[in-house]
Amino acid sequence: MADPHLAALEVEVTAVDWAGTLEIESGINTAVSNRNAAADAALNRLHLRPGRCSRTPGATVLVETDTNQSGIHIALAVRTRLAGRTDAGAGSGARQLFKVQLKRGMPLIIEKTAALATSRDYAVSTAGLDALARIDRAAGFAELLARHVDAWGRLWSVFGIELAGRPRSGMALSLQTFHVLTATAAASDDQDAGIPARGLHGEGYRGHIFWDELFVYPMLTLRRPDLTRSLLLYRFRRLDAARDAARRAGFRGAMYPWQSGSDGRDETPTTLFNTRDGDWISDHSYRQRHVGLAIAYSVWRYYQTTGDIDFLTRYGIELLVEIARFFASLATPDETGNRFSIDSVMGPDEFHDGYPGNSGGGVRNNAYTNILAAWVLARAIEAAEVPTGGDRESLWNRLGMDEAELNSWDAISRRLTVVFHSDGVISQFEGYEKLKEFDWEGYQARYGNIGRLDLILQSEGDSTNNYRLSKQADVLMIFYLFSAEELQDIFDRLGYHLRPQQIPRTVHFYLSRTSHGSTLSRVAHSWVLARSNRRKSWSLFRQALDSDLDDTQGGTTAEGIHLGAMAGTVDMVLRCYGGVETRDGALWLHPVLPPGTARCPLSTAVPGSAHQR
Ligand code: BGC
Repeated sequence: MADPHLAALEVEVTAVDWAGTLEIESGINTAVSNRNAAADAALNRLHLRPGRCSRTPGATVLVETDTNQSGIHIALAVRTRLAGRTDAGAGSGARQLFKVQLKRGMPLIIEKTAALATSRDYAVSTAGLDALARIDRAAGFAELLARHVDAWGRLWSVFGIELAGRPRSGMALSLQTFHVLTATAAASDDQDAGIPARGLHGEGYRGHIFWDELFVYPMLTLRRPDLTRSLLLYRFRRLDAARDAARRAGFRGAMYPWQSGSDGRDETPTTLFNTRDGDWISDHSYRQRHVGLAIAYSVWRYYQTTGDIDFLTRYGIELLVEIARFFASLATPDETGNRFSIDSVMGPDEFHDGYPGNSGGGVRNNAYTNILAAWVLARAIEAAEVPTGGDRESLWNRLGMDEAELNSWDAISRRLTVVFHSDGVISQFEGYEKLKEFDWEGYQARYGNIGRLDLILQSEGDSTNNYRLSKQADVLMIFYLFSAEELQDIFDRLGYHLRPQQIPRTVHFYLSRTSHGSTLSRVAHSWVLARSNRRKSWSLFRQALDSDLDDTQGGTTAEGIHLGAMAGTVDMVLRCYGGVETRDGALWLHPVLPPGTARCPLSTAVPGSAHQR
């Protein structure tokens, strides 16, 4: 962790009751292939060109290769040392062979150090030269280990969380923290790195970036705001690709794709592998336009928490403006002229990509999308007015903004449609109330784990679009993202009167109709219940915490950990149970401790925000 380019291994061999020749082979595997994800079996699994091996006169082996499509040059240098020897061993190519005469009871220490460099690193001539230079200057194992331990110690002093009296949950939280920090380590090196949904531990989802960062930033921002800043810049650098996507689809502003990677183009697959019957199903999840809202939301929360005006003025406003612009162009006035609607989208619940009989067409007035869009439009107006004088003029000119455009955003942000059921429950989308109830008990009895009802129903020739069911929190996401006070303001601004009893009614309605087919779901639900039903909240939290430890999604952990749920659970302890909120230039504290926890579960201090009062 002290130097992300280095890895080191020390092995000690002792012949306890024997003496003789020991052969040690050390090398670099040049035949790495990507065979981890079942759904990708039909794809080309070789992502690297054949490696080229060379040796230095010392004991260093160097392998250089390039990625197939993007041509990124990668070099790996490896030094293997046997205590008391200086030779490079025998062997050829990327393998080194050492023969050692072992004496009974005499330990032999083998030390292997690897340095990785790529053509994307800073301050390199070639990746090969850089990897060799790094090996040259790498200290011995003991010193590398000491530095590594020290680096983790420093991280742990700000990220470590102790749960009094709950050692197993505490250990799980440490595991999650470890994964989040390793997956975002490149950001601390200021690399152009985003947040892949499955971290760095598997090939599931092909390394793609979704909206999961929404669950990751809060954990980072309160402790290492520089990481959030760097990760948001990854999105900023792909703003032009998002602008192109919006233009091509006939909209204004920036349309961030549901799944993307290297250059920010839309890489959402159009088919989904049904692990139940081996069939490929049409996948319309590209309609999840809300990914852009998650970015805009995160930009504003980052600014609120840190007061980083430099980030806001150089990058944040532009992101907010272009995303707001896109949603304003997506909104259309309805027949009455009183309200605006957003049509043909999907909310976070991937079980509804259309109406019965029209799968894939998207839905109209998804509450989550509309409410968040209304909030983002209002924040974009607020942000656009932050710079003053010449700075404002040049920014507005550059982005082609004027008062008329801001006024139109204001109007849309006050009149986007939210649909309610007849009993006041916030409807997931227009028409949701008309869908059939689902036979939860029958399916549970028949299938056991019914998380992925989409796959189950599809294999039966049915569709989740026909029923009142969700894969994951959708409407309830708004209670996860906003405090009760904020929500009241949002609904007031939209001209809807939200009566207090509507909130528990809405929570109850969706809670009993969710299959938790995404690990993100239990994070949001446990958060939403923290104040009204702590016991249930804690139980969902524990299940979210165990998502990868117990592989609760039925085998998906082997394809990579679920980073959003990992960060989300760590974040929950501080911001939800610890009750730390940063908004309106103030630090708000209202803890709601898990049942049976007598004292605040935090051992970490929250670094002071510029805005605290
Ligand atoms: C969830 C999405 C999530 C994606 C990547 C899907 O199963 O439904 O919300 O972004 O996994 O984690």
